[in-house]
Amino acid sequence: MSGAPVRRTPLPGVLEPAGRTIGAEERAAVLRVLDSAVLCSTFGGEARALEAEMEALYGRTAVACSSGTAALHLAVAAVRFEPGDEVITTPISDFGTVAPILAQNGVPVFADVDPVTGNLDPVAVEAAITPRTRAIIAVHLFGAPADVVALRAIADRHGVVLIEDCAQAWLGTTAEGELLGTFGDISCFSLQQYKHITAGDGGLAITADPLLASQMRLFMDKGWDRSGGRVHLMLGLNYRMTELVAAVARAQLGKVADVVKRRRESAEQLIAALGGGPAGEGLTGVVLPGLAGHAFWLFPLIVAGDNRLWAEGLTAEGVPASGGYLERPLYANPVFRGEPVYGTSRYPLDREYPVGLCPNAERLIGQTLVVLPWNEAYTKTDVDDIARAIRKVHADG
Ligand SMILES: Cc1ncc(COP(=O)(O)O)c(C=O)c1O
Repeated sequence: MSGAPVRRTPLPGVLEPAGRTIGAEERAAVLRVLDSAVLCSTFGGEARALEAEMEALYGRTAVACSSGTAALHLAVAAVRFEPGDEVITTPISDFGTVAPILAQNGVPVFADVDPVTGNLDPVAVEAAITPRTRAIIAVHLFGAPADVVALRAIADRHGVVLIEDCAQAWLGTTAEGELLGTFGDISCFSLQQYKHITAGDGGLAITADPLLASQMRLFMDKGWDRSGGRVHLMLGLNYRMTELVAAVARAQLGKVADVVKRRRESAEQLIAALGGGPAGEGLTGVVLPGLAGHAFWLFPLIVAGDNRLWAEGLTAEGVPASGGYLERPLYANPVFRGEPVYGTSRYPLDREYPVGLCPNAERLIGQTLVVLPWNEAYTKTDVDDIARAIRKVHADG
Protein backbone atom coordinates (compact mmCIF):
# COMPACT_ATOMS: atom_id res chain seq x y z
CA MET A 1 0.00 0.00 0.00
CA SER A 2 1.27 3.46 -0.86
CA GLY A 3 1.24 6.56 1.40
CA ALA A 4 -0.81 7.43 4.47
CA PRO A 5 -4.09 5.59 5.04
CA VAL A 6 -7.13 7.25 3.48
CA ARG A 7 -9.09 7.05 6.71
CA ARG A 8 -7.58 7.79 10.10
CA THR A 9 -10.59 7.71 12.43
CA PRO A 10 -12.68 4.54 12.77
CA LEU A 11 -15.96 4.36 10.88
CA PRO A 12 -19.01 3.97 13.13
CA GLY A 13 -19.68 0.30 13.84
CA VAL A 14 -22.32 -1.90 15.42
CA LEU A 15 -20.45 -2.41 18.70
CA GLU A 16 -20.61 1.25 19.76
CA PRO A 17 -23.37 3.81 20.36
CA ALA A 18 -22.41 5.84 17.26
CA GLY A 19 -23.19 2.90 15.00
CA ARG A 20 -26.48 1.84 16.58
CA THR A 21 -29.83 3.62 16.88
CA ILE A 22 -30.21 2.91 20.58
CA GLY A 23 -31.42 5.97 22.46
CA ALA A 24 -34.10 7.44 24.66
CA GLU A 25 -36.87 5.19 23.31
CA GLU A 26 -34.98 1.99 24.13
CA ARG A 27 -33.96 3.32 27.53
CA ALA A 28 -37.60 4.16 28.34
CA ALA A 29 -38.67 0.74 27.07
CA VAL A 30 -36.27 -1.09 29.37
CA LEU A 31 -37.32 0.98 32.37
CA ARG A 32 -41.02 0.45 31.56
CA VAL A 33 -40.49 -3.32 31.73
CA LEU A 34 -38.32 -3.21 34.84
CA ASP A 35 -40.84 -1.00 36.60
CA SER A 36 -43.61 -3.47 35.73
CA ALA A 37 -41.64 -6.33 37.34
CA VAL A 38 -42.91 -8.67 34.60
CA LEU A 39 -39.94 -9.81 32.56
CA CYS A 40 -41.37 -13.00 31.06
CA SER A 41 -43.49 -12.57 27.94
CA THR A 42 -45.99 -15.23 29.00
CA PHE A 43 -47.30 -12.75 31.54
CA GLY A 44 -46.51 -9.37 29.99
CA GLY A 45 -47.65 -7.38 26.95
CA GLU A 46 -44.42 -6.35 25.20
CA ALA A 47 -43.75 -9.43 23.07
CA ARG A 48 -47.39 -9.65 22.00
CA ALA A 49 -47.33 -5.92 21.14
CA LEU A 50 -44.13 -6.43 19.12
CA GLU A 51 -45.87 -9.21 17.19
CA ALA A 52 -48.80 -6.89 16.45
CA GLU A 53 -46.42 -4.16 15.26
CA MET A 54 -44.54 -6.62 13.06
CA GLU A 55 -47.88 -7.74 11.63
CA ALA A 56 -48.75 -4.10 10.87
CA LEU A 57 -45.42 -3.72 9.04
CA TYR A 58 -45.52 -6.96 7.03
CA GLY A 59 -49.20 -7.82 6.89
CA ARG A 60 -48.59 -11.31 8.31
CA THR A 61 -49.03 -12.97 11.68
CA ALA A 62 -45.81 -12.73 13.69
CA VAL A 63 -44.33 -14.97 16.36
CA ALA A 64 -41.58 -13.45 18.51
CA CYS A 65 -38.75 -15.68 19.74
CA SER A 66 -35.27 -15.62 21.16
CA SER A 67 -33.09 -15.39 18.01
CA GLY A 68 -33.04 -15.55 14.24
CA THR A 69 -31.90 -19.16 14.54
CA ALA A 70 -34.87 -19.85 16.81
CA ALA A 71 -37.20 -18.20 14.26
CA LEU A 72 -35.83 -20.54 11.58
CA HIS A 73 -36.26 -23.48 13.94
CA LEU A 74 -39.90 -22.51 14.47
CA ALA A 75 -40.32 -22.35 10.70
CA VAL A 76 -38.68 -25.71 10.00
CA ALA A 77 -40.52 -27.41 12.87
CA ALA A 78 -43.85 -26.04 11.60
CA VAL A 79 -43.26 -27.74 8.23
CA ARG A 80 -43.43 -31.05 10.12
CA PHE A 81 -41.39 -33.05 7.64
CA GLU A 82 -40.30 -36.61 8.29
CA PRO A 83 -36.84 -37.39 9.69
CA GLY A 84 -34.49 -37.78 6.73
CA ASP A 85 -36.44 -35.41 4.47
CA GLU A 86 -34.49 -32.80 2.54
CA VAL A 87 -34.40 -29.02 2.74
CA ILE A 88 -32.66 -27.09 -0.03
CA THR A 89 -30.68 -24.05 0.98
CA THR A 90 -27.64 -21.91 0.26
CA PRO A 91 -24.00 -22.60 1.16
CA ILE A 92 -23.44 -18.89 1.90
CA SER A 93 -25.19 -17.86 5.09
CA ASP A 94 -24.93 -17.85 8.84
CA PHE A 95 -24.95 -21.33 10.40
CA GLY A 96 -28.32 -20.37 11.89
CA THR A 97 -29.86 -21.04 8.48
CA VAL A 98 -28.93 -24.74 8.54
CA ALA A 99 -28.73 -25.69 12.22
CA PRO A 100 -32.55 -25.89 12.53
CA ILE A 101 -32.73 -28.32 9.60
CA LEU A 102 -30.35 -30.69 11.41
CA ALA A 103 -32.14 -30.11 14.70
CA GLN A 104 -35.35 -31.39 13.08
CA ASN A 105 -33.47 -34.38 11.63
CA GLY A 106 -33.65 -32.99 8.12
CA VAL A 107 -30.90 -33.24 5.51
CA PRO A 108 -29.59 -29.90 4.21
CA VAL A 109 -29.12 -29.96 0.44
CA PHE A 110 -26.94 -27.14 -0.83
CA ALA A 111 -27.76 -25.55 -4.18
CA ASP A 112 -25.29 -23.24 -5.89
CA VAL A 113 -25.65 -19.47 -5.97
CA ASP A 114 -25.50 -16.65 -8.47
CA PRO A 115 -21.82 -15.77 -9.08
CA VAL A 116 -22.40 -12.06 -8.40
CA THR A 117 -25.12 -11.71 -5.74
CA GLY A 118 -24.37 -14.94 -3.88
CA ASN A 119 -28.11 -15.62 -3.73
CA LEU A 120 -29.61 -19.02 -4.56
CA ASP A 121 -29.70 -19.77 -8.28
CA PRO A 122 -33.28 -20.93 -9.00
CA VAL A 123 -32.04 -23.29 -11.74
CA ALA A 124 -29.73 -25.02 -9.25
CA VAL A 125 -32.55 -25.17 -6.70
CA GLU A 126 -34.94 -26.84 -9.11
CA ALA A 127 -32.25 -29.31 -10.16
CA ALA A 128 -31.78 -30.27 -6.49
CA ILE A 129 -35.44 -31.15 -5.92
CA THR A 130 -36.07 -34.85 -5.20
CA PRO A 131 -39.11 -36.79 -3.94
CA ARG A 132 -37.74 -36.18 -0.41
CA THR A 133 -37.60 -32.37 -0.71
CA ARG A 134 -39.96 -30.66 1.70
CA ALA A 135 -38.76 -27.06 1.86
CA ILE A 136 -36.48 -24.41 0.37
CA ILE A 137 -34.81 -21.84 2.62
CA ALA A 138 -33.76 -18.76 0.63
CA VAL A 139 -31.49 -16.17 2.22
CA HIS A 140 -31.47 -12.57 1.00
CA LEU A 141 -27.71 -12.29 1.29
CA PHE A 142 -26.39 -8.98 2.62
CA GLY A 143 -29.88 -7.54 2.00
CA ALA A 144 -29.98 -8.19 -1.76
CA PRO A 145 -33.22 -9.77 -2.94
CA ALA A 146 -32.99 -13.44 -3.83
CA ASP A 147 -35.13 -14.33 -6.84
CA VAL A 148 -38.19 -15.03 -4.73
CA VAL A 149 -40.57 -14.89 -7.67
CA ALA A 150 -38.78 -17.81 -9.34
CA LEU A 151 -38.30 -19.64 -6.03
CA ARG A 152 -41.99 -19.24 -5.17
CA ALA A 153 -42.90 -20.72 -8.55
CA ILE A 154 -40.52 -23.67 -8.00
CA ALA A 155 -41.93 -24.29 -4.52
CA ASP A 156 -45.47 -24.24 -5.89
CA ARG A 157 -44.60 -26.46 -8.84
CA HIS A 158 -43.16 -29.12 -6.55
CA GLY A 159 -45.50 -28.71 -3.59
CA VAL A 160 -42.78 -27.70 -1.13
CA VAL A 161 -42.64 -24.93 1.46
CA LEU A 162 -40.66 -21.73 0.81
CA ILE A 163 -39.01 -20.13 3.84
CA GLU A 164 -37.39 -16.72 3.41
CA ASP A 165 -34.47 -15.96 5.70
CA CYS A 166 -34.73 -12.17 5.97
CA ALA A 167 -32.20 -11.84 8.82
CA GLN A 168 -30.06 -9.58 6.64
CA ALA A 169 -32.87 -7.99 4.65
CA TRP A 170 -35.15 -5.94 6.87
CA LEU A 171 -37.54 -4.07 4.55
CA GLY A 172 -35.69 -5.22 1.44
CA THR A 173 -37.85 -5.51 -1.66
CA THR A 174 -37.82 -7.13 -5.06
CA ALA A 175 -36.73 -4.93 -7.94
CA GLU A 176 -40.44 -4.26 -8.47
CA GLY A 177 -40.81 -3.00 -4.89
CA GLU A 178 -42.60 -5.94 -3.28
CA LEU A 179 -41.55 -6.60 0.32
CA LEU A 180 -39.15 -9.49 0.90
CA GLY A 181 -40.70 -11.71 3.52
CA THR A 182 -44.09 -11.76 1.78
CA PHE A 183 -43.24 -14.51 -0.73
CA GLY A 184 -42.36 -17.29 1.67
CA ASP A 185 -44.88 -19.47 3.48
CA ILE A 186 -42.83 -18.40 6.49
CA SER A 187 -40.21 -15.65 6.73
CA CYS A 188 -37.68 -15.18 9.51
CA PHE A 189 -35.94 -12.12 10.94
CA SER A 190 -33.11 -11.56 13.41
CA LEU A 191 -32.53 -8.86 16.01
CA GLN A 192 -28.95 -9.91 16.77
CA GLN A 193 -26.37 -7.21 17.53
CA TYR A 194 -25.07 -6.85 13.95
CA LYS A 195 -28.44 -6.60 12.21
CA HIS A 196 -30.19 -3.45 10.89
CA ILE A 197 -31.98 -3.18 14.22
CA THR A 198 -31.12 -5.02 17.40
CA ALA A 199 -32.22 -6.06 20.84
CA GLY A 200 -28.96 -7.94 21.42
CA ASP A 201 -30.58 -11.18 20.32
CA GLY A 202 -34.11 -11.91 19.22
CA GLY A 203 -36.11 -13.22 16.30
CA LEU A 204 -39.44 -12.98 14.54
CA ALA A 205 -41.16 -15.46 12.22
CA ILE A 206 -44.07 -14.31 10.08
CA THR A 207 -46.67 -16.18 8.04
CA ALA A 208 -50.04 -15.67 6.40
CA ASP A 209 -51.07 -19.26 7.23
CA PRO A 210 -52.95 -19.62 10.54
CA LEU A 211 -51.96 -23.29 10.91
CA LEU A 212 -48.25 -22.55 10.45
CA ALA A 213 -48.62 -19.62 12.87
CA SER A 214 -50.17 -21.81 15.55
CA GLN A 215 -47.55 -24.55 15.05
CA MET A 216 -44.76 -21.98 15.43
CA ARG A 217 -46.35 -20.45 18.52
CA LEU A 218 -46.61 -23.89 20.11
CA PHE A 219 -43.04 -24.84 19.22
CA MET A 220 -41.84 -21.52 20.70
CA ASP A 221 -43.41 -22.38 24.07
CA LYS A 222 -42.88 -26.09 24.80
CA GLY A 223 -45.86 -27.16 22.73
CA TRP A 224 -48.06 -25.60 25.38
CA ASP A 225 -51.10 -23.65 24.18
CA ARG A 226 -51.66 -22.14 27.63
CA SER A 227 -55.43 -22.10 27.23
CA GLY A 228 -56.14 -25.50 28.72
CA GLY A 229 -53.92 -26.48 31.61
CA ARG A 230 -50.49 -28.08 31.28
CA VAL A 231 -51.13 -29.91 28.05
CA HIS A 232 -48.24 -30.19 25.59
CA LEU A 233 -49.76 -30.56 22.16
CA MET A 234 -46.48 -31.13 20.34
CA LEU A 235 -42.75 -31.16 20.86
CA GLY A 236 -41.59 -27.64 21.57
CA LEU A 237 -38.74 -25.79 23.24
CA ASN A 238 -38.52 -22.62 25.24
CA TYR A 239 -37.75 -20.05 22.55
CA ARG A 240 -39.74 -17.26 24.21
CA MET A 241 -38.56 -13.69 23.75
CA THR A 242 -38.22 -11.88 27.07
CA GLU A 243 -40.16 -8.71 27.80
CA LEU A 244 -36.96 -6.65 28.05
CA VAL A 245 -35.90 -7.78 24.59
CA ALA A 246 -39.38 -7.24 23.17
CA ALA A 247 -39.63 -3.72 24.56
CA VAL A 248 -36.27 -2.77 23.03
CA ALA A 249 -37.24 -4.50 19.78
CA ARG A 250 -40.46 -2.44 19.62
CA ALA A 251 -38.47 0.78 19.86
CA GLN A 252 -36.03 -0.49 17.23
CA LEU A 253 -38.81 -1.63 14.89
CA GLY A 254 -40.09 1.94 14.90
CA LYS A 255 -36.71 3.00 13.49
CA VAL A 256 -36.11 0.29 10.90
CA ALA A 257 -37.59 2.17 7.93
CA ASP A 258 -35.27 5.11 8.52
CA VAL A 259 -32.27 2.80 9.07
CA VAL A 260 -32.85 1.06 5.75
CA LYS A 261 -33.48 4.36 3.94
CA ARG A 262 -30.24 5.85 5.21
CA ARG A 263 -28.23 2.73 4.37
CA ARG A 264 -29.65 2.76 0.85
CA GLU A 265 -28.86 6.46 0.40
CA SER A 266 -25.24 6.07 1.44
CA ALA A 267 -24.86 2.92 -0.68
CA GLU A 268 -26.22 4.85 -3.64
CA GLN A 269 -23.66 7.57 -2.92
CA LEU A 270 -20.84 5.01 -2.92
CA ILE A 271 -22.03 3.40 -6.14
CA ALA A 272 -22.17 6.85 -7.79
CA ALA A 273 -18.74 7.80 -6.39
CA LEU A 274 -17.26 4.66 -7.91
CA GLY A 275 -18.78 5.49 -11.27
CA GLY A 276 -21.16 2.57 -11.12
CA GLY A 277 -24.90 2.46 -11.52
CA PRO A 278 -26.80 3.23 -14.71
CA ALA A 279 -24.59 6.23 -15.57
CA GLY A 280 -21.12 4.77 -15.42
CA GLU A 281 -18.79 1.92 -16.10
CA GLY A 282 -17.34 1.68 -12.61
CA LEU A 283 -13.88 0.35 -11.85
CA THR A 284 -12.46 -2.19 -14.26
CA GLY A 285 -12.88 -5.69 -12.89
CA VAL A 286 -15.06 -4.61 -9.95
CA VAL A 287 -18.78 -5.40 -9.85
CA LEU A 288 -20.87 -3.22 -7.56
CA PRO A 289 -24.18 -4.34 -6.05
CA GLY A 290 -27.42 -3.40 -7.76
CA LEU A 291 -29.45 -0.85 -5.84
CA ALA A 292 -32.88 -2.25 -6.66
CA GLY A 293 -34.57 -3.51 -3.51
CA HIS A 294 -31.27 -3.91 -1.62
CA ALA A 295 -31.44 -3.37 2.16
CA PHE A 296 -27.64 -3.01 2.46
CA TRP A 297 -26.91 -5.00 5.56
CA LEU A 298 -23.37 -5.18 4.17
CA PHE A 299 -21.93 -3.67 0.98
CA PRO A 300 -20.53 -6.44 -1.26
CA LEU A 301 -17.99 -5.99 -4.04
CA ILE A 302 -16.96 -8.58 -6.60
CA VAL A 303 -13.28 -8.16 -7.44
CA ALA A 304 -10.99 -9.54 -10.11
CA GLY A 305 -7.91 -9.90 -7.90
CA ASP A 306 -7.48 -11.82 -4.65
CA ASN A 307 -10.35 -10.99 -2.27
CA ARG A 308 -8.21 -11.52 0.85
CA LEU A 309 -5.60 -9.07 -0.46
CA TRP A 310 -8.35 -6.58 -1.25
CA ALA A 311 -9.72 -6.88 2.28
CA GLU A 312 -6.25 -6.45 3.76
CA GLY A 313 -5.64 -3.44 1.55
CA LEU A 314 -8.92 -1.78 2.48
CA THR A 315 -8.42 -2.48 6.16
CA ALA A 316 -4.94 -0.93 5.97
CA GLU A 317 -6.59 2.16 4.46
CA GLY A 318 -8.84 2.43 7.53
CA VAL A 319 -11.88 0.83 5.86
CA PRO A 320 -12.44 -2.59 7.47
CA ALA A 321 -13.40 -5.29 5.00
CA SER A 322 -13.74 -9.05 4.90
CA GLY A 323 -12.55 -11.26 2.05
CA GLY A 324 -15.20 -13.87 1.32
CA TYR A 325 -17.61 -13.09 4.20
CA LEU A 326 -17.22 -16.72 5.36
CA GLU A 327 -14.05 -18.73 5.72
CA ARG A 328 -15.70 -21.64 3.95
CA PRO A 329 -19.09 -22.63 2.52
CA LEU A 330 -21.47 -23.93 5.17
CA TYR A 331 -21.05 -27.48 3.86
CA ALA A 332 -17.28 -27.37 4.45
CA ASN A 333 -17.76 -27.10 8.21
CA PRO A 334 -16.79 -30.13 10.31
CA VAL A 335 -20.41 -31.08 11.03
CA PHE A 336 -20.89 -31.78 7.31
CA ARG A 337 -17.45 -33.27 6.83
CA GLY A 338 -17.62 -36.40 8.91
CA GLU A 339 -17.98 -35.16 12.48
CA PRO A 340 -20.91 -36.72 14.36
CA VAL A 341 -24.17 -34.80 14.48
CA TYR A 342 -25.85 -36.65 17.38
CA GLY A 343 -23.85 -38.78 19.78
CA THR A 344 -21.36 -40.65 17.62
CA SER A 345 -23.76 -40.76 14.67
CA ARG A 346 -23.85 -38.66 11.52
CA TYR A 347 -27.62 -39.11 11.35
CA PRO A 348 -29.51 -37.49 9.64
CA LEU A 349 -26.68 -36.86 7.18
CA ASP A 350 -26.61 -39.55 4.52
CA ARG A 351 -24.15 -38.09 2.01
CA GLU A 352 -20.81 -36.41 1.49
CA TYR A 353 -20.51 -32.68 0.90
CA PRO A 354 -17.36 -32.61 -1.25
CA VAL A 355 -15.18 -29.72 -2.38
CA GLY A 356 -16.62 -28.46 -5.64
CA LEU A 357 -20.24 -29.06 -4.62
CA CYS A 358 -21.19 -25.43 -5.29
CA PRO A 359 -18.44 -23.90 -7.47
CA ASN A 360 -19.91 -20.39 -7.63
CA ALA A 361 -20.17 -20.21 -3.84
CA GLU A 362 -16.62 -21.52 -3.46
CA ARG A 363 -15.29 -18.94 -5.93
CA LEU A 364 -17.12 -16.09 -4.16
CA ILE A 365 -15.79 -17.08 -0.75
CA GLY A 366 -12.29 -18.01 -1.88
CA GLN A 367 -11.58 -15.46 -4.58
CA THR A 368 -14.03 -12.78 -5.63
CA LEU A 369 -16.23 -11.54 -2.78
CA VAL A 370 -15.27 -8.62 -0.55
CA VAL A 371 -17.76 -7.26 1.98
CA LEU A 372 -17.70 -3.92 3.73
CA PRO A 373 -19.62 -3.35 6.94
CA TRP A 374 -22.41 -0.87 6.24
CA ASN A 375 -24.04 1.52 8.67
CA GLU A 376 -26.89 4.01 8.74
CA ALA A 377 -24.64 6.47 10.57
CA TYR A 378 -22.20 6.86 7.65
CA THR A 379 -21.86 10.50 6.60
CA LYS A 380 -21.08 11.77 3.12
CA THR A 381 -17.47 12.17 4.24
CA ASP A 382 -17.37 8.57 5.47
CA VAL A 383 -18.66 7.34 2.12
CA ASP A 384 -16.18 9.57 0.24
CA ASP A 385 -13.37 8.04 2.30
CA ILE A 386 -14.63 4.52 1.54
CA ALA A 387 -14.76 5.36 -2.17
CA ARG A 388 -11.21 6.76 -2.09
CA ALA A 389 -9.95 3.67 -0.28
CA ILE A 390 -11.56 1.38 -2.86
CA ARG A 391 -10.08 3.41 -5.72
CA LYS A 392 -6.66 3.32 -4.09
CA VAL A 393 -6.66 -0.44 -3.50
CA HIS A 394 -7.93 -0.92 -7.05
CA ALA A 395 -5.16 1.28 -8.45
CA ASP A 396 -2.51 -0.53 -6.38
CA GLY A 397 -3.73 -3.64 -8.21
C1 LIG B 1 -28.89 -14.95 7.06
C2 LIG B 1 -28.93 -15.26 8.52
N1 LIG B 1 -29.70 -16.26 8.97
C3 LIG B 1 -29.77 -16.57 10.26
C4 LIG B 1 -29.07 -15.88 11.20
C5 LIG B 1 -29.18 -16.30 12.62
O1 LIG B 1 -29.68 -15.26 13.41
P1 LIG B 1 -29.31 -15.20 14.97
O2 LIG B 1 -27.87 -14.84 15.08
O3 LIG B 1 -30.23 -14.11 15.47
O4 LIG B 1 -29.63 -16.51 15.55
C6 LIG B 1 -28.24 -14.81 10.79
C7 LIG B 1 -27.44 -13.97 11.69
O5 LIG B 1 -26.89 -14.14 12.66
C8 LIG B 1 -28.16 -14.51 9.41
O6 LIG B 1 -27.37 -13.53 8.98
